[in-house]
Amino acid sequence: MITAALPYANGPVHIGHLAGCYLPADIFARYLRSKGEDVKYICGSDEHGVPITIKARAEGISPQQVVDKYHKIMGDSFKEFGISFDIYSRTSNKIHHQTSSDFFKKLYDQGSFIEEVTEQYYDEEAKQFLADRYIVGTCPKCGNENAYGDQCENCGTALSPTELINPKSKLSGAKPVLRKTKNWFLPLDKLQNKVDAYIDEHKDWKTNVYGQCKSWLAGEGLQPRAMTRDLDWGVPVPVEGAEGKVLYVWFDAPIGYISATKELLPDTWELYWKNKETRLLHFIGKDNIVFHCIIFPAMLMEHGEFILPDNVPANEFLNLEGNKLSTSRNWAVWLHEYLIDFKDKQDVLRYALCANAPETKDNDFTWKDFQTRNNSELVGILGNFVNRTLVLTHKYYEGKVPDVSEYTKEDLLVLEEISKFPDRISASVDQFRFREALGELMNLARLGNKYLADTEPWKLIKTDEKRVKAIINISLQITANLAILCEPFLPFTSEKIFRLLNCSPLKWNAAYRTDNLRSGTVIAKEELLFQLLEDDVIQAQVNKLEDSKKENALNQKKLPEIKAETSFDDFNKMDIRTGTILEAKKVPKTDKLLELKIDTGVDVRTVVSGIAEYYKPEDIIGKQIVMLANLAPRKIKGIESKGMILMAENEKGELSFVSPTKDNMNNGSIVK
Ligand code: MF3
Ligand code: ZN
Repeated sequence: MITAALPYANGPVHIGHLAGCYLPADIFARYLRSKGEDVKYICGSDEHGVPITIKARAEGISPQQVVDKYHKIMGDSFKEFGISFDIYSRTSNKIHHQTSSDFFKKLYDQGSFIEEVTEQYYDEEAKQFLADRYIVGTCPKCGNENAYGDQCENCGTALSPTELINPKSKLSGAKPVLRKTKNWFLPLDKLQNKVDAYIDEHKDWKTNVYGQCKSWLAGEGLQPRAMTRDLDWGVPVPVEGAEGKVLYVWFDAPIGYISATKELLPDTWELYWKNKETRLLHFIGKDNIVFHCIIFPAMLMEHGEFILPDNVPANEFLNLEGNKLSTSRNWAVWLHEYLIDFKDKQDVLRYALCANAPETKDNDFTWKDFQTRNNSELVGILGNFVNRTLVLTHKYYEGKVPDVSEYTKEDLLVLEEISKFPDRISASVDQFRFREALGELMNLARLGNKYLADTEPWKLIKTDEKRVKAIINISLQITANLAILCEPFLPFTSEKIFRLLNCSPLKWNAAYRTDNLRSGTVIAKEELLFQLLEDDVIQAQVNKLEDSKKENALNQKKLPEIKAETSFDDFNKMDIRTGTILEAKKVPKTDKLLELKIDTGVDVRTVVSGIAEYYKPEDIIGKQIVMLANLAPRKIKGIESKGMILMAENEKGELSFVSPTKDNMNNGSIVK
């Protein structure tokens, strides 16, 4: 049972997602299928949680419209890219609501949860509780200022909103207040021993994964974690007294692996989830480690009927041209766009991402590297060997696989060497070392090139026809074995080679043999497997990224630098006090100016203020403000203005009043 993290349906797929888990899981699934294993590769869209509702607000559409839109884009692009999911499901469907709801109900009924009223952050402006990504603040572990309410993406720590330092609402920017609400908590603290023992049984996990788990368990230990949320988008909590609450997205989403298997195999799904013989593997990116290695297994342990993950191969992050991939800053190579710009070149991206996979550390994708991988490796090594072999077969034998009457010592050595490749590649794939495995695959193509270069059939053809037959036969057998062994990595290329060889696709075991092609078989006229990528094609992609960089710079004007030092005496010359707006009206024939009557506590006076783009007169009457009361009077549009209202201005030039946050500040209170 292979799963890949269910991607949030809040944006299209980019290369970071692919390199993180979908491609490695696909390679592994294809490899196991080729070896004849019973394997299912499960995925689907994660359609709940705050990432979806935030996107819906940003696009001004409903959460359902968001997930419908991106579920389709993601599903289509995965398919075209050759990601061989047995099912690509979604968590908004009925079977998933039922399955996750039943899972919760079982835990609830057996008393696994603690029901508790706690104080949670609430946004009074947006009138909403602030769970998960609705709230940001400083991570208490690493100091990252943009940690989310459920997790810090910088250090991977799982957090609760109340642990954040300086929390801020993502919705209104307001400082949240605490409000009481009831939720159901999974007492992870009580499960710590079981989880410890489970992790300890898995010292074979990748060092980054095992290490992260150990360090969480070692610290203050696990804390109870709320499995429900005060939100209106998600799976409703199926118990009484939970109206208006939904399951925590990290509770329902991993159960999505089970629901999707049920949907795929209504009669036999239990074989994959309740059978000790089944090996359960979760492919994920490193930001998902805590959820898959600790929280989900703890849920499964509590439930009791399901097997636990056997391994959780998590990759590190892929960066793009030196910068972190970002959906919101449009710093990404989007899969659906790649598939248009590089039609029929799925395998080039698969190759580049696998060859440079962030398996043990963060890695960088650059277009230059992509070009080199294509031109020097795919064209120069693999394509070159296959092409030369096919050309020579046509040139000397009218496209028929020649018969061999005798092998030389050199041939026998090469044949022996060839048959070692399946084990070599397996050894790497079995340990989730896909880059290494791909390197071995290319070594087989290199071996072929070297064999041709050493034996020089183009010279021998005049003198030793028998020898040439053996050489071409062996080269064709290498080509067939390349087609078998490259299938997990480069499925489109594999298919193409088999078609050219006029051979139906063969499975992994056949690659131990060196007689897969029968002599006399007529092969197709050669076709290039890969084409050189010219500089202008690559430059166009680099330019596209430059454009989004420029756009970002425009959108993100910098805040001004801190001004030169000033003295306390200078500051003290200013008379700053609170006042209340009594009247407000637009100054005729201007766009920006309002004429205000202000009660300063000691007098009532007129102030002209340039805020008309941000406040309507009728909305601000009665509002308390802060003003500079001893500014020299000025005539503005013929009106005498006495004083200046203090405003905060953000980097976009938008203005806001700065007002006291308590209501006991009478007009005329001094600001100092
Ligand atoms: N949607 C999550 C993410 O993109 C991953 C969910 S994985 C699952 O980070 F296990 F919950 F499904
Ligand atoms: Zn952190």
